[in-house]
Amino acid sequence: MKRILVTGGLGFIGSHTVVALQNKGFEVVIIDNLSNSKIDVLEKITEITGIKPLFHKIDLRDKAEVRSFFDTNKVAGVIHFAAFKAVGESIQKPLAYYENNIGSLVYLLQEMKNRNIDHFIFSSSCTVYGQADALPINENAPIKKAASTYGNTKQIGEEIIAESCKAYHMNAIALRYFNPIGAHESIKIGELPLGIPQNLIPFITQTAAGLRTELAVFGADYDTPDGTAIRDYIHVVDLANAHIAALERLLNKKNKTNFEFFNVGTGVGSSVLEVITAFEKAAGKPLNYKIVDRREGDITAAYADTTTANKELNWKTEKSLEEALADAWKWQQQQ
Ligand code: UFG
Repeated sequence: MKRILVTGGLGFIGSHTVVALQNKGFEVVIIDNLSNSKIDVLEKITEITGIKPLFHKIDLRDKAEVRSFFDTNKVAGVIHFAAFKAVGESIQKPLAYYENNIGSLVYLLQEMKNRNIDHFIFSSSCTVYGQADALPINENAPIKKAASTYGNTKQIGEEIIAESCKAYHMNAIALRYFNPIGAHESIKIGELPLGIPQNLIPFITQTAAGLRTELAVFGADYDTPDGTAIRDYIHVVDLANAHIAALERLLNKKNKTNFEFFNVGTGVGSSVLEVITAFEKAAGKPLNYKIVDRREGDITAAYADTTTANKELNWKTEKSLEEALADAWKWQQQQ
């Protein structure tokens, strides 16, 4: 059995990936500092899979702790989720974002290099493309100057990995996520936003649950069919499965270059109004919303060309937007 380190394994995408890894027969060891996750998630994962993952509460900014972890744990690969991810906050606290998102990445790669641990999967983001010139977005689209510190940590992160793979002959894959949503079908794990949600789906579900009065739709004057912005919303379980596919590609030495990157989305773009309509159908009730001004920094439209990921990772999405919204709603209702 292969043991895989999952950093940030109690977070939203991390926890779903741990479940998928365990279901595939991998042994999982989680590192999480609980800065944006709850320890209960460990029990929930255990309830879903029947296997308790190994867990270490470690802050990856602590170089000595990272070293000591690798001294005592043998792993065959690393899936690295642990990072700060709030776009707005990142602009207010750039140094904290660089220290956490870049520092931890460097320490992990150093330990992997020193111990000849290969196989690294990195959480990247479609944010690296900015507003792409052509849609759908394929992997050849140019990287644009990041609009936020968060986005820049993903761009710099990819560069650090690419250069490390070249210099130290490591193998890595970056997955550029589009918009992850939904919850596990067991409704035991899902998204746990702290405070007022910044992302569309948790804001919708909290509004439907009566925790918020109304959803503000940020802009209806975009150059799109209904005027609202378009994104590619992918069910978190489909996204988790993309990590297994990427890991197996590396473990089976199927990768074509030391460092590869893939767009992970559904290939379907949905406008904010389309998401609201789909949610109302899934939840069986109307949603209170109003149109307000655009949110600063938002782009008009982004959705993935999934051709390369489908072919090279031998992976595809299986869940619809409606299923993802229904799962997100069930998750909200049992909070
Ligand atoms: N939106 C609203 N009202 C809200 C929240 C969002 O109308 O209350 C709209 C946004 O304007 C946008 C769409 O819903 O058009 C999706 O917004 P999200 O905040 O859910 O997602 P983003 O596409 O803005 O952000 C995502 C990830 C980030 C990543 C970014 C890159 O959450 O991590 O994509 O573009 F950096």
